Amino acid sequence: MKWLRVFCVATVATAASLPAMAADGGQILSSQCVSCHAITKPEKAGIDHIWSRKGPDLYYAGNKFQKEWLVDWLQNPKTIRPGGEFYHNHVKSTPEGDVIDNSKIVAHVKLDKASAEAAADALMKLSVPGLVEAGVFKNAPVTPTMGAMFFGKLRGCSSCHQDAPGKGGTSGPELYTAHKRLQADYVYSYIQDPQKMDPRVWMPKMDMKDPDIQRLTGYIMQLKSEAAQ
Ligand code: HEC
Ligand code: HEC
Repeated sequence: MKWLRVFCVATVATAASLPAMAADGGQILSSQCVSCHAITKPEKAGIDHIWSRKGPDLYYAGNKFQKEWLVDWLQNPKTIRPGGEFYHNHVKSTPEGDVIDNSKIVAHVKLDKASAEAAADALMKLSVPGLVEAGVFKNAPVTPTMGAMFFGKLRGCSSCHQDAPGKGGTSGPELYTAHKRLQADYVYSYIQDPQKMDPRVWMPKMDMKDPDIQRLTGYIMQLKSEAAQ
């Protein structure tokens, strides 16, 4: 009898924990995501890592993303890097110049709602202390024309990034959804020192003073686009 009772309790306990297991975020990351994404800091973040990785690093996702965006995007992923993770692999030369070869860009894995929420929770727990200083972005008002001038002519960000769909360069991530995708302090820190975030990334470190970085961050966080909603 005693054994029977133990058996029954064990069966009930297993059945009850099944739904929780189905949406265990850590489990999802380690079974479905690590083939393309680093969820712990790679020992050698050298040029080999950038050339061979199949997706962006996620080991500091908690310093970078807004959770609601993660939950939505993981259910319905849209292109962020028009040139793919490593744009050299997706560019073809034409007489008109280099163009992105979309046929080489593979659609991202999609998750159902419960799995997306669980994965987003697990991602938000991944962070690197000291990588991003909380509160560094002061949210001072920026006029759109002034911001656009800095983003374009003055600082050349638009040669690699789009500030509206189809407008700007393709070798870096688009920035017109940054207001819902990224944390403002992360955007500031990335502009201040891209190699602190990603040691071999090809975005140049421009020695800018705080007011310029505040202005660019403010401009990027203000960008809204109907097409991107
Ligand atoms: C086959 C490789 C592959 C797998 C598997 C994969 N991803 Fe990705 N992931 C990518 C690529 C490539 C991108 C970049 C997409 C873009 O920029 O448009 C990406 C982008 C992302 C981003 C946005 C990152 C950023 O910095 O902008 C998140 C978040 C993400 N993936 C989460 C996941 C999760 C969670 C899983 C597992 C459920 C997963 N991915 C599985 C290749 C993969
Ligand atoms: C030579 C190309 C290049 C230039 C010029 C450039 N960037 Fe970047 N930028 C990149 C690349 C590449 C990344 C990171 C790619 C990745 O995560 O896959 C990046 C990342 C970023 C990010 C983080 C975005 C994200 O989704 O993680 C921000 C913010 C950013 N750049 C802003 C700027 C601003 C502002 C300027 C102008 C001052 C600028 N960039 C100039 C190539 C460039």
